[in-house]
Amino acid sequence: MLKNDQLDQWDRENFFHPSTHLAQHARGESPSRVIKTASGVFIEDRDGNRLLDAFAGLYCVNVGYGRQEIADAIGEQAKELAYYHSYVGHGTEASITLSKMILDRAPANMSKVYFGLGGSDANETNVKLIWYYNNILGRPEKKKIISRWRGYHGSGLVTGSLTGLELFHKKFDLPVDQVIHTEAPYYYRRDDLDQTEEQFVAHCVAELEALIEREGADTIAAFIGEPVLGTGGIVPPPAGYWDAIQTVLKKHDILLVADEVVTGFGRLGTMFGSAHYGIEPDIITIAKGLTSAYAPLSGSIISDKVWKVLEQGTDENGPIGHGWTYSAHPIGAAAGVANLKLIDDLNLVSNAADVGAYLNRTLAEALADHPHVGDVRGEGMLCAVEFVKDRDSRTFFDAADKIGPQVSAKLLDQSRIIARAMPQGDILGFAPPFCLSREEADQVVAGTVQAVETVLG
Ligand SMILES: Cc1ncc(COP(=O)(O)O)c(C=O)c1O
Repeated sequence: MLKNDQLDQWDRENFFHPSTHLAQHARGESPSRVIKTASGVFIEDRDGNRLLDAFAGLYCVNVGYGRQEIADAIGEQAKELAYYHSYVGHGTEASITLSKMILDRAPANMSKVYFGLGGSDANETNVKLIWYYNNILGRPEKKKIISRWRGYHGSGLVTGSLTGLELFHKKFDLPVDQVIHTEAPYYYRRDDLDQTEEQFVAHCVAELEALIEREGADTIAAFIGEPVLGTGGIVPPPAGYWDAIQTVLKKHDILLVADEVVTGFGRLGTMFGSAHYGIEPDIITIAKGLTSAYAPLSGSIISDKVWKVLEQGTDENGPIGHGWTYSAHPIGAAAGVANLKLIDDLNLVSNAADVGAYLNRTLAEALADHPHVGDVRGEGMLCAVEFVKDRDSRTFFDAADKIGPQVSAKLLDQSRIIARAMPQGDILGFAPPFCLSREEADQVVAGTVQAVETVLG
């Protein structure tokens, strides 16, 4: 901390930071970093430190920082019309255009977009719409939502419940009753080390079937999942997982919500993760990559099947009683239009596929022989390294050793590269902007190897 540093003092005295050790921060025991500017894949703090952001903020600044086209679109929208609401049939050119652009890119059975501000509120919307749907269909008991352990779906009451991570439940009285959890499709952490991927998929399916049997299919409304588990560890599903899960859901008339907050708009090297894995969702959650975080905006993309019932509901009950003041905010919508256009113009989805594959391959090769690297995995521009105490027996480190956070801190100190220590397990996550070059990927790999060797030998 700088002496007489007023900004640092105000920060610690006034600012309640999310996902932060509050007491340590207030006491000045943990570092604060004030970010001042950014360009491409680099951010710069107020002391002039330039850092390669290999996590794109919170895997959201997909087109990279400092894009003039998006800044201009936001500025022009703010001058022309900073705000008008979207209740009772109102809209703006930006929000209507963006709905059309999203549906042009979404799976063919999708019908409408409801806009929110962030991924959490979009998933809250989804749960409400699913409850409404089953009430309209005369199935008031069919309300529970199945999520996976290690899934991440937000931080609200229902969405924090859907999130299957201990930290997000502990002392918050979550999960709420209507949310139930099933096995994560996390092959590397399977209980039975002798299981093949195929056997592990069969195990996930059996666990899901058993849960449905226990609770009763007539009490279960929906299943929510990220195409690739994100915050829970950046874990692509084992081959055949999504097909097998969808067969079970269809059999029991359970809706499927694909949470594409991270994977939507290109992160896997395809426009949507659903297309990537042959997922046929009833609802898709989008946020982050929709505007590349230049302005807050999220959405729930609703399928024809669900939409028809919502229409029936309003014919029977009057206007839908669900709305946010800032739904389809024109500034967010203008940012979204400019962002999706930029992704197309610069072929950023194919760059995410190319450079993402390169990053995954070179990182896996560079760490292949390290005795404490148990797994290197990824898909598109998503990648993770998982550390273990003993590779052969797959013994994990004690959480108290904080190996993941130590490696991430070293990477920052030694190479000025940001990667994220994922919250549950010793897992270093990478999710760079799609404009990452091969040279920058090389930098990330070299820095990571050095950090791993410094911490783990
Ligand atoms: C898959 C997924 N869903 C939902 C959310 C919640 O989004 P937000 O933080 O914008 O509320 C996140 C955030 O990381 C996410 O990764």
